Amino acid sequence: MIMSKSLKIALLPGDGIGNEISVELIKVLNWINNNTDLNINLIEEIVGGASIDKYGTPLSDKTFEAISKTDAIILGAVGGPKWEGLSFEKRPERGLLNIRKKLDLFANFRPAIVFDALISSSSLKADIIRGLDILIIRELTSGIYFGEPRGIEKIGKDEFKGFNTLIYTSKEIERIAEIAFKSALSRSRRLCSIDKANVLESTELWRDVVTKVSKKYPEVELSHMYVDNASMQLVRKPNQFDVIVTTNMFGDILSDCASMLTGSLGMLPSASIGKKVDGICNAMYEPVHGSAPDISGKGIANPFAMILSMAMMFKYSFNRNDLFMLINKVINSILKKGYRTKDIFSSNEKLVSTSEMGDLVVEELANEKI
Ligand code: IPM
Ligand code: MG
Repeated sequence: MIMSKSLKIALLPGDGIGNEISVELIKVLNWINNNTDLNINLIEEIVGGASIDKYGTPLSDKTFEAISKTDAIILGAVGGPKWEGLSFEKRPERGLLNIRKKLDLFANFRPAIVFDALISSSSLKADIIRGLDILIIRELTSGIYFGEPRGIEKIGKDEFKGFNTLIYTSKEIERIAEIAFKSALSRSRRLCSIDKANVLESTELWRDVVTKVSKKYPEVELSHMYVDNASMQLVRKPNQFDVIVTTNMFGDILSDCASMLTGSLGMLPSASIGKKVDGICNAMYEPVHGSAPDISGKGIANPFAMILSMAMMFKYSFNRNDLFMLINKVINSILKKGYRTKDIFSSNEKLVSTSEMGDLVVEELANEKI
């Protein structure tokens, strides 16, 4: 008898469209539960604005306790205009940042891949983005996002000072560089490290440490680029990149930019991974897009980034490349058949709602032999 493998997964829908796309994710998870040897035990918790409304804090101890004891976390998105006036520590985004920091999920993988059927959805010419497959590796638990001192202080009668600190230690740079070189080894062996070493000391150190780590990986061709140039090169000739490694804030900005190359922010998944420590969750999967309050509740959000994030979970956390490939294949074939949510719809395709798209994924999965 084959023993089914039991996995505990935490779902945090969050706010806005996070809720709608989570409903579609559950449909797919149920299908996987019923049709594979995996036995997935899903717990659902709240985070972000939803948690502020219920517990007065974007990440309650109860939620953190529960999610930290799972095998993986899948998060929708957090934030919205309702909570924008709150103090910094109380904002929905803090919930997300605190999970990343407390679980030490320092390596953030953000692939930007163009699905053939979506080439025309990109604002760039087809020739420039055909076959695009970039992996951005963003440092996620340090840098200017977390550096101290930070704050807003009164410095005169009507004058204030706002400040943040960009800090990287050599250890923090080393561990993300190691991950990046290993990823490059498993791909085309080209790694581009992006910094602003001509102006910022902390990224001058970044460049030095990445160069030092490169000596251990002579098979990988390392290049360095300043972030302003990199943002230009990403839209000029994106195919020159394979694996990119960069700091927390540069990675945040460049990954939004890279996502638009692929046609829609609604398509891009991500994985945030830390070191494996027994009994503590070391991975969170989430779409790159936000909670999109402007379209929330309308049933038009694209559930693919969320479903593809789950696919990344199967690959990175559970070593199930077969399920990763299967989900990608199914999404590819739905796109080829011309089904589109509004964000990727141009004119002649079949426009479907969030929930219809989720149903299509399940239908298409049912046609697959596994
Ligand atoms: C992202 C988001 C977050 C970030 C926000 C919501 C805090 O933009 O995951 O890219 O800045 O990291
Ligand atoms: Mg971002």
